[in-house]
Amino acid sequence: MLPDENGLDAWLRYAPLASDLISQSEQYESVIALSSDDTSPVYTAAREVQKGLHGILKQEVEIAHSLASYSQKDDKTAIFIGTIHEFSQAGGDVTQIPPLKEDGFWLDNHGNKSVHILGQNERGTLYGAFEFLMLLAQGKPCPSGHISNPSAPIRWVNQWDNLDGSIERGYGGPSIFFKDMVVQDDLTRVSQYARLMASVRLNGIIVNNVNSHHDLLSPKNLEGLGRIANAMRPWGVRIGVALFFDTPKTLAGLPTSDPLDPDVIAFWDRITAQLHQHVPDLIGYLIKANSEGQPGPLTYGRTLAEGANLFANALKRYGDGVVVYRAFVYNHHLDESNWKNDRANAAVEFFKDMDTLFADNVLVQIKYGPIDFQVREPTSPLFAHLRKTPAIIEFQVAQEYLGQQSHVCYLPPLWKTILDFDLRIDGKSSPVHKIVSGERFDWKRSGYAAVVNVGSDSTWLGSHLAMSNLYAYGRYAWDPLSDAESVIRDWTRLTFTANPTVVDTVSSISMESWPTYENYTGNLGIQTLCEITKTCHYGPRPDSMDGNGWGQWTRADAHGIGMDRTVATGTGYAGQYPAEIAQLYEKLETTPDELLLWFHHVPYTQRLKSGKTVIQHFYDAHYEGAANVQTFAPRWEALRGLIDDARFKHILFRLEYQAGHSLVWRDSVNNFYMDKCGIADEHGRVGHYPWRIEAESMDLTGYTVILITPFEAASGGKAIVTTSNDKPGTAKCTIPFETGVYSVAVNYYDHLGGTSHYKLSLGGQVIGEWAGDLSTVLLHDFSDLRDGHSATRIIFESVNVTKGDTLEISGMPDGTELAPIDYVSFLPPGIVD
Ligand code: GCU
Repeated sequence: MLPDENGLDAWLRYAPLASDLISQSEQYESVIALSSDDTSPVYTAAREVQKGLHGILKQEVEIAHSLASYSQKDDKTAIFIGTIHEFSQAGGDVTQIPPLKEDGFWLDNHGNKSVHILGQNERGTLYGAFEFLMLLAQGKPCPSGHISNPSAPIRWVNQWDNLDGSIERGYGGPSIFFKDMVVQDDLTRVSQYARLMASVRLNGIIVNNVNSHHDLLSPKNLEGLGRIANAMRPWGVRIGVALFFDTPKTLAGLPTSDPLDPDVIAFWDRITAQLHQHVPDLIGYLIKANSEGQPGPLTYGRTLAEGANLFANALKRYGDGVVVYRAFVYNHHLDESNWKNDRANAAVEFFKDMDTLFADNVLVQIKYGPIDFQVREPTSPLFAHLRKTPAIIEFQVAQEYLGQQSHVCYLPPLWKTILDFDLRIDGKSSPVHKIVSGERFDWKRSGYAAVVNVGSDSTWLGSHLAMSNLYAYGRYAWDPLSDAESVIRDWTRLTFTANPTVVDTVSSISMESWPTYENYTGNLGIQTLCEITKTCHYGPRPDSMDGNGWGQWTRADAHGIGMDRTVATGTGYAGQYPAEIAQLYEKLETTPDELLLWFHHVPYTQRLKSGKTVIQHFYDAHYEGAANVQTFAPRWEALRGLIDDARFKHILFRLEYQAGHSLVWRDSVNNFYMDKCGIADEHGRVGHYPWRIEAESMDLTGYTVILITPFEAASGGKAIVTTSNDKPGTAKCTIPFETGVYSVAVNYYDHLGGTSHYKLSLGGQVIGEWAGDLSTVLLHDFSDLRDGHSATRIIFESVNVTKGDTLEISGMPDGTELAPIDYVSFLPPGIVD
C-alpha cells in the first residue's frame, strides 16, 4: 500500500523512480553551486537538486562552491549550477550558450561527466535546476544544449488575502500570509509556496487582496512584509502590495486622498520609502480603484492616469517597481432598462484615451474577458487599444465562477481560447499572447497575472486536482503555446505517478472538464449563470443575472435571450474590436455559436450553425455535460491502489459530489428556461423525471412541504423540512418501481447553520446514514439557504429494491438546517435522473 500523501509537496514530491530506472541512472557526485550566499536562488537551486537527487534517485551529493576546487572522480557526474556570468568568471566555457532573455536558462548534459545548469540570472539558474529535476522525476532524459526563455518578464500571482486571514474567493482554507490583521509570525508555508511558484517560473506576487485595507501599511505590517519578502526571495519571487486608494484619509487622517494634493503625494512618498526599507526589491503596487465601491481618482475629479501616476512617481526613486493599474473599472449600478448600457464596454471607454498619459512605469492589468472570469467570454477588446502602455493579462486560478475547486475544471483549454485569439490589430497578426509578451508593441515589461487562492489547507487549493491549474498557469506564462494535454500529463506524472492508467485518466478527465462544465452551466456565451447578487458565485441561479445593476445581463424574457452588443442595434461593444473582428461579431451569421448570446439577442428558436435551436442546445448541452460528469467518478475508481488512498479518496469524494451537483445545475437551468419560454425539450426530458419520488408526495410525520426559491432549485419546485429544529421527521412511501437492483439517490440541501443527520431505509433495512456536513469537507462558498448552492445528492449504489416495500427517510434537524429533502431517485443501470 502506498503511503498517504497530503498534497503539501504538490508536484515537487521527488518520489523515487522505479528501481530499474534508478540503477540505469547516472551517478551524480557533487553539486557545484557558484554562490555561497545562502539566500541566493543559486544556492537554493543547489539544495533543491541535492534534495531531488536524494528523493528521485536515492543518491546523496555534496554541495561545493568553487569550480577550482572541483576535480572529477570515478566517472561520476558533477552538476554545475550558477549564472552564466559566474560560470564564465570561474573559468567555465560559455561559448556554446546563445543569448538568453531575463530569467532564461541553459541546460546541458555532458553524459557521465557533467550537467550544466546555467541561468541568465540567479532566478533563471533556479528555474534550470527545477527543469532538470522535473525531467528526472518523470524519468525523462536530461537534454543537451537546451535553452529555455520566458515569453514575458512578468509572471505574477495575485493573492486576494485579507488581513484578518480570510481570502476573498478562497476555497483552500485561511490565509498563509495574514491573521488577526497582521502578517503571520510563522511564514513556513509562504516559503513553501514560493518554492512551488519558482518551480513553474513565477517570479512575483502581490500578497494581499485588491480590495485592500489601510492597515497593511501599519508599522508592524511593513516589518511583516519585509519578512514575507525575505521568505520568498531565496526562491526568486519578489513581492508587491495592493493599495487602498483612500489610505491617506483613513490611515493618516488627511482631509482628502486627491492624487494631486501635495500632502497626499508626500504621504505616498513616505510610505513608499518606508516600504522600501523593509522590501528593497519591491515589484510595485497593484491598484483597484473606482471599481465595485472602491474609491479612486474619479472620486476626486481626477483621471485614472493621474491616479496611477501618483504611485508611479513615488516608485520611480527606487529600483524597477511598477504600478499595475487594474482595468476592472466599471459602474455596478447600471440601468438595465437602457438597451445601450453595457458593462462590457467599460474598460475600453475608461482606458482608451489614457494610453499616452500614464507614466512609463505604469502597466494596465486586464481580465481576460470584458466581464469577470466567466466560463466563456470573448477576449477583452482593451488589448487592442493600448499601444504605449504595457498590459498584463489577468487570469484566475481560483475557480470563482468555475466550480470553486469543488468541481474539476482544468483551465488551460479556456485560457487558450484567449491567448491564441488573433485581434488583427491594424490588419496585422496580433494574437493575445504576442501582445502580452510585449512582442507586438515592443513593450519591455508586460505579461501575466493570475488570482491564486492558496490557503493553509495541506492541499493548498482545497482540492488536489485543482493544483493542476496553478502548475499550468506557470507553464503558460512561460510558454503560452504550451499544449494543454502535455502539461496535464507532466503534472500528473509529477503529482501522482507515471503509471499510464493514472496519466491517461487524469488527463482525459481534465481535458474534458472545462467543456463539460460549460455544458452544464452557461452555454453559447450567456455566462456562467450562477448566483451573482449574493457573494456565492457558485450554484445555478439564472434569474440573478438580470434585474440588477451588475451588468452581467442575459436579457432573457419569454421570447428571446442574449445581449445585443452590435453597433447597428445594440450596445456597440462589437465595435470596440479592430475592424476585422468587429465585423465578425457584428453579424449573427459570422459569430461563432459559442459566443452567440454574448453578442446577439435572439429568439429561443434561433438556429445555430449546428442546426439546433438555441433552447434545444441549452437542453442538450446540459444533459450531455451532466451525463459526462457521471462518468468521472467511475473512471477515477480505476486508480484505486495505483495512487495513495488519501488522495484517491479525497478526489473520489469530490467527483461524486460534482456528479450530483451537475444534475442540480442541469435541472435548474433547463427548468428555468423552459418555464421562461414555454418550449418543451424535443426529447421530453426536461420537467419529466420518471425515476423520482418527490419528497413532498410522501407521507410526512414531523416534516412539512415548502416552496423553494428559486423554484428551479428543487425538483417540482418543492421540498420538505422538519417542523421543528430539535425533533426528527420521517417521510415514507411505498416503492412503485419493479423489483431489481438500483442506485438509490437522495437529493437534499446541505447549507450553513447546522448539521442535519439522515437515515434511509428500504423495507426496514438501513441503506445509509449520513450527515449534512459538506461545508466541513468542501471549502467552496456555502449559502445558508435551500438553493442551487446547497442542493446536493448522495447516492447508494447497487441496492436490492423490492416493489411494494416501504421507503423511509428520517431526518434530524440541527440549528437552522431542518434536514431538508428534495426527492429520491431509483436509478436502473445506465439511467441518470
Ligand atoms: C469579482 C470578484 C470580486 C473581486 C473582483 C475584482 O467581481 O467577485 O470578489 O473583488 O472580481 O476582480 O476586483
